[in-house]
Amino acid sequence: MTRTPLVAGNWKMNGVPDSASELRAMIDALKGGGHCDVLVCPPFPLIGAFVGDAADSGVEIGAQDCHFNEKGAHTGDVSPALLAAIGASAVILGHSERRADHGEADALVKAKAQAALAAGLLPIICVGETEAQRDSGQAEATVLAQLDGSLPDDAGIVVAYEPVWAIGTGRVPENADIAAMHAAIRKAVVGRYGEAGQGIRLLYGGSVKPGNAAEIFAIDDVDGGLIGGASLKADDFLGIIRAA
Ligand code: 13P
Repeated sequence: MTRTPLVAGNWKMNGVPDSASELRAMIDALKGGGHCDVLVCPPFPLIGAFVGDAADSGVEIGAQDCHFNEKGAHTGDVSPALLAAIGASAVILGHSERRADHGEADALVKAKAQAALAAGLLPIICVGETEAQRDSGQAEATVLAQLDGSLPDDAGIVVAYEPVWAIGTGRVPENADIAAMHAAIRKAVVGRYGEAGQGIRLLYGGSVKPGNAAEIFAIDDVDGGLIGGASLKADDFLGIIRAA
């Protein structure tokens, strides 16, 4: 089964209104491209403007989180229905920073994923072990347990494997370790969804840079990347997109 690679930028809590110039530089450089899917996920307040800037460019705009309800008394939260209505097409869910900063557990991530799917958004579900879990030989068991609890009923998702210890550190697992984890994730999603699991894109995230992207994306069952720091600057992000 062929899977179109996806390179997704997670801007995290970075970006100012002027950052649209970086997005426009990416869009200009990608004109006529189209060898992989490109997604940019800025903070909530920038989504609407970015959707306008990216119209008809092929670059999709997404969010970094959403609530599991369509509307209601949830101060500070944003519903998937609103995200879809303003033109977002995807949402990152269960990022390790949300699991750590906001105590998000697997069941909540699953509820958000179900709601995102119902709203027509593509959920990008993040999983990954801590350094202590890897050092104690628990990396795969940790990730499989996260998948077990976080995956929604429908296969219309993307999974991002992001070892917590590789995020923002400049450290990347050995290729063989990425390959082994992605093979285990593939087996899990096929076990869960049957043949449809073969179509799910599995992204690697954690210190992906223009210099290491080609090598990482060449690993079996790595169908693109979820990029943090290097997605903020057009030149770096474009270098990674070209590697995909
Ligand atoms: P870095 O690319 O900055 O390591 O961040 C990865 C990440 O957390 C993307 O969601």
